[in-house]
Parts: sequence; C-alpha cells; structure tokens
Amino acid sequence: MKTIDELLAEGVDGKRVFVRADLNVPLADGLITDDGRIRAVLPTVKALVEAGAKVIVASHLGRPKGAPDPAFSLLQPAERLAELLGAPVAFAQDTIGPAAHDAVRGLEPGQVAVIENLRFNAGETAKDDVERGEFADQLAALADIYVGDGFGAVHRKHASVYDLPARLPHYAGYLIATEVGVLKKLTEDVKRPYVVALGGSKVSDKLAVIDQLLGKADRILIGGGMAFTFLKAKGYEIGASLVQDDQLPAVTEYVERAEKNGVELVVPVDVVTSAGFPDLKTKAPSNPTVVAADAIPADQMGLDIGPETGALYASKLADAATIFWNGPMGVFEHPDYAEGTKAVAQALVDSQAFTVVGGGDSAAAVRILGFDETAFGHISTGGGASLEYLEGKTLPGLAALED
Ligand code: 3PG
Repeated sequence: MKTIDELLAEGVDGKRVFVRADLNVPLADGLITDDGRIRAVLPTVKALVEAGAKVIVASHLGRPKGAPDPAFSLLQPAERLAELLGAPVAFAQDTIGPAAHDAVRGLEPGQVAVIENLRFNAGETAKDDVERGEFADQLAALADIYVGDGFGAVHRKHASVYDLPARLPHYAGYLIATEVGVLKKLTEDVKRPYVVALGGSKVSDKLAVIDQLLGKADRILIGGGMAFTFLKAKGYEIGASLVQDDQLPAVTEYVERAEKNGVELVVPVDVVTSAGFPDLKTKAPSNPTVVAADAIPADQMGLDIGPETGALYASKLADAATIFWNGPMGVFEHPDYAEGTKAVAQALVDSQAFTVVGGGDSAAAVRILGFDETAFGHISTGGGASLEYLEGKTLPGLAALED
C-alpha cells in the first residue's frame, strides 16, 4: 500500500487529488453532534493543501436512496471542514455534474472543494459492477490522483471506495494508515490479557466478531441491547427488553464454545430498566430502576447495565494489557442510562492497557460524555470497518489501495 508520504515525495503541486473521506457524522436537527470524523481527515487534507494540491474531498452521509435528498447534504460537514482548516472550502451541489466540474476547475493550488454526497448517485452503492464502474469513471474525470482516507467506509464495495482507486494512481491517507496500524496490533501478536467489551443494540451485528474473538480474546464483556439475547439464552426472563430470538441458537453455541476455549464471557448481573424507551430529545426523567439481571419484571425493558455490572466490568478491564471496546453499554444519549457506558469508558481511561475504542456509537459516546480523547490509545472512526477487520475479512477499500 503506497502512502500519502510517498505521494508527497513525488510531488502534488497543482495536481487534482481526490480524497475519499468519511464525513458521515451524526446530525441532530441538521446540526453536527460529533465532528470527530471531520477532524480525523484533517492531517491528510492539510498535508495536501500545504503541498499545493487542488484537493477534492468526497464522502457519503447517511443512506439516501441514490438520488439527491437535502436531509443528507454534505454542506454542513463542508462548512465544518472549512472552520477546522481555517480556510474557505468550495461546495459543489452535485457529485459528477457541472457544479462539481466548475468547483474543481475553480481550484487554485492549495485550495479545497467538497462535492455533494456520493450516495446521491445510485452508481455509488450499486451491486452491479458496470453501474458502479460507470460512476467511478465519471468521478475519475474530476481528478489526477486518488487518496483513500475514509476508513469508516472501507468495508463497503462502493464506487468511490473500491472502483475509483483502480482508475487513478492511488495512495492511503494518514487516517487509513493509522487505523490499519492499530488494528494490526489487535490481530498480530496481541499483548495479553486481551479484554474486549462489546455493546450496541443488535447481537446479529456482532456475531461474526464474537466468533473470531472466541479464538483470540481472553475475556469478553457483553453489554448494550445485545446483552438481553445472552440473558435470555441463559434462561432468564427479560421482560420487554430488546431481543433477537433468531440469534438464540448462535449465542448459546458461543457461550458453550467460550467455556471450552477458556474464554471468560461475562454478561450483566444487574440492569437499569424502565417501562418504556426514554425520550432522547427532551431527555425527560424516565423512572429508571435497577434490578438483578435474572429478575427483570415483565413490563420493564433493560436500557443499561446496572451499577454492579459497571463495577464488575471495570474490575475485568483493570488487569488488561490490550482492550478493544465497541458499542455503548446502554442508551447513553439519555442521562438515566449513561452510567454503564461511562463506567466502561472510565475503566479504559484508568487502565494501563493499549486501549482501542472501535468507532461509530462508542467513539461518539466517549466525546459526547465528555471524556478526554487523548486518554484513549486510539479512537477508531470506523465501527463496521473495524469490526470487519477484526473478523478477518478482506475490506474492499483496503484491497483496492494494495495493488
Ligand atoms: C459508518 O458510519 O459506519 C460508515 O460511514 C459507513 O456507513 P454505512 O454503514 O451507511 O455504509
């Protein structure tokens, strides 16, 4: 994989460089609630600007249906990028149309343009190779060089991630180089004890990674909505909590395999429940109750790990040499259910281990809950991407940069 340092050594002055970033930031009422992914691509964009490139930044945002949709415009992230760069950024209201071509033509060396959401064009995510290829051809017409730096999207076989690098000289940006370096530490010669904390709502999203980790990790701590499928597999009543019944056989097999492999698989001993899902907008008080994990009343839903579990998980993380954490422990967006996620985040901060926060919601949680990002070894910008890397899958966006 050639890196941006090699590109800079070759020289980019006046060249049009297409940077595939991941500016897919969380938005609430049209405002960016966490700009971590925009900040993460700054080193690459700044280096190219300083070297006199004409920089075209492109990304997806959300999951629009292959046509323009103002709710998913990249205008806000582009404005935030300009603020962070401390320089104006041109914004093109299309991806491959006249606006994009005008914006690129208008760039002087050292200037930046952002083109509109790549997913406004159906070719970006098309399953059909020809359709994707046609869109990639049109994107390629905008630039001379491709820099892949959208780590959060490298697990997607999309036109701008997979097909476009095949059409242009291609290099990995600083973010991708850093992320891959960190994930290698978790897969090759990991320092032990290796403890993994997994949360999030759906167990089905985590099955493949648990499958892999049962042969690698020393301890796996389970929280979040997915914990209730584990609790149900143990035969507990889980009331109105989130559950994926179709995953019960897989979860049961994992519990058995963990025991056979000597992997400690830890599930909550207590949970915070309420009669309904809390209002995340008003954050109105919602009558939370702490109950034992095997005594959830029929009319209650579990929304966070309980305080005893928080302390238990902190103790299970304390002696780790390596920690990977992916997925919040509860509905951290509401203060009544944020303590479990805070307890795990704090345990990472207090630990001497090499700590990796695996993207998406857990990375946002760390920042939204006010933790100092520098207290973590690495906060990944890729949730799905880092999980698929740990699953041992070939990631299209990394494979495309290899050759
Ligand atoms: C993410 O948020 O994980 C990445 O930006 C990829 O987005 P996607 O899941 O919509 O492809």
